[in-house]
Amino acid sequence: MKISIINGPNLNLIGKREPEIYGNESLNSYLQLLAAAYPDVCFTIFQSNVEGEIVNEIQRVGFDCDGIVINAGAYTHYSLAIADALRSVVAPAVEVHISNVHAREEARHHSELAPACVGVIAGFGLDSYRLAVEALDAMQKNG
Ligand code: DQA
Repeated sequence: MKISIINGPNLNLIGKREPEIYGNESLNSYLQLLAAAYPDVCFTIFQSNVEGEIVNEIQRVGFDCDGIVINAGAYTHYSLAIADALRSVVAPAVEVHISNVHAREEARHHSELAPACVGVIAGFGLDSYRLAVEALDAMQKNG
């Protein structure tokens, strides 16, 4: 199974950025451990602060991998271009958030991407990524 993890703006600063919201652990080191815990899954891990680069990555992996885990950061809330890219490819996507966006400011309650995804996982800290991998794995096993 091939899973592509795509992270958007400011997620490269997780571990340093607003630790009271996002914790102290770096996302990159967490994702390396996550990948190691699933030796049968082939992961690609990508991060960009640039909207078009995220679109390019979705187009690059989306016809080849079995699932996409996407945390588009703030783009989640308004990027039609990323939503269109997710709708344009065949791989199912799971939207992920580290924080519970629904318990935060109102601007974070809307997701432009969620309707283009098979599901959304938010609020479980970095473990949200593992839960998304589990969901894609179960979807594939259940056909
Ligand atoms: C986030 C939530 C977004 O609202 C925010 O802009 C982020 C991180 C999360 O993982 O909790 O950058 O996607």
